[in-house]
Amino acid sequence: MRRISILGSTGSIGVSTLNLIEETLTPGEDYELEALCAGRNAALLAEQALKFRPRVAVLSDASQWADFSERMKGSGIEIACGPEAVEAAAARPVDWVMAAIVGIAGLRPVWAAAGTGATVALANKESLVCCGRSLILRAEAAGGRILPVDSEHNAIFQVFEEAERARIRRLILTASGGPFRGRQREDLAHVTREQALKHPNWSMGAKITIDSASLANKGLELIEAAYLFDMPSAQIDVLIHPQSVVHSLVEYSDGSTLAQMGPPDMRVPISYCLGWPQRHSWSAPPLDLCALSTLTFERPDTEAFPMLRLAREALEAGGLMPVVYNAANEVMVQAFLEGRIGFLDIPATVEAAMMRAQSLSMAFGNDLRHDVECIEQADAETRAQLAVSGEAAHWTAGTQGQAFSRA
Ligand SMILES: NC(=O)c1ccc[n+]([C@@H]2O[C@H](COP(=O)([O-])OP(=O)(O)OC[C@H]3O[C@@H](n4cnc5c(N)ncnc54)[C@H](OP(=O)(O)O)[C@@H]3O)[C@@H](O)[C@H]2O)c1
Repeated sequence: MRRISILGSTGSIGVSTLNLIEETLTPGEDYELEALCAGRNAALLAEQALKFRPRVAVLSDASQWADFSERMKGSGIEIACGPEAVEAAAARPVDWVMAAIVGIAGLRPVWAAAGTGATVALANKESLVCCGRSLILRAEAAGGRILPVDSEHNAIFQVFEEAERARIRRLILTASGGPFRGRQREDLAHVTREQALKHPNWSMGAKITIDSASLANKGLELIEAAYLFDMPSAQIDVLIHPQSVVHSLVEYSDGSTLAQMGPPDMRVPISYCLGWPQRHSWSAPPLDLCALSTLTFERPDTEAFPMLRLAREALEAGGLMPVVYNAANEVMVQAFLEGRIGFLDIPATVEAAMMRAQSLSMAFGNDLRHDVECIEQADAETRAQLAVSGEAAHWTAGTQGQAFSRA
């Protein structure tokens, strides 16, 4: 019997996790649900809570409280509201947590969950990108561990032989290339939100879908891989693999390269985390190898998609630079989703924010400790600066190479 919490239960990963749990586990026998947490979707959270009967259901957005509490009336389930309540729910002792809140909003809940000693299935890559190894060490110190949900890291996790670490030449992360694969930089100036949201292979939340289109997702994953597997940037490569069947690879110095393959379905890595250390049987769609006529791999175009290059620079700069990269990206993705900026403004602004952070490292006190307050300060500083600058209106000059040059 395992006690389980799901943070971000109303999102793409959260819903897939609940579907898998419903299909494969018996409530009261295999598991009991401690907490379901979500952002603002009161209707879906209430529906999930009434069906799965967690001990507590928490909505972060206070403006939806009246609606949520009305829907939950008479259920007998403990309910709460606000970011602090989400964090408190994440801190409840459980055996297994799905951490699937999107963006920096996941930072405190993930940090809290990691401190409980639970096994944390981590989908919220942004928290790891910001916390670095501190998050992994925190989980281990509490007697738990972080398991990667991202399909690429989950693939590497499955074929990474810790005892052979010294003989690992490199990790190879694969990327679908997103909807704009093959386009030149100038072709990207006027792409629309709708085009960017049409991912060729994966069905995901809006933020990660835009990140996939700009390759920021692969950038975040590069940083995530370095921290998860304790590998230097120089030993992590990215290859575009449009079929999204080989989810990532580990190359060993004896000439063997081990890959994990599977259909592009997030339930595969989620089920791996759910079952770990055993494999977890479910009605997984088989991989039809004969139907795959070709598997192709190509180098990413970092000229057209600078977010990957910028992520590597952030990783190599270290300290809080990945926090700046993440914060600037989140602000700009939101602005793009709201139709306020163009697609190319995303990398231009992130690059400018990183350059500014480098020159103003005093503003972050040169404090390289990755504690939550320190991360939140760097995150807030970056967001405040973008707000002061009027986001892209100011930074777009960088796109045209007028206002900024690289140090
Ligand atoms: N989707 C994928 O295939 C995939 C693959 C790999 C990694 N990931 C990662 O997994 C995470 C979730 O992705 P997703 O695609 O599932 O995103 P999503 O569909 O947008 O769902 C995000 C979830 O986070 C919740 N949330 C947002 N703000 C919150 C807040 N302030 N407090 C509490 N909950 C909040 C949302 O609640 P409401 O909907 O109620 O607002 C929703 O449940 C991301 O970090 C993403 O990078 C996703």
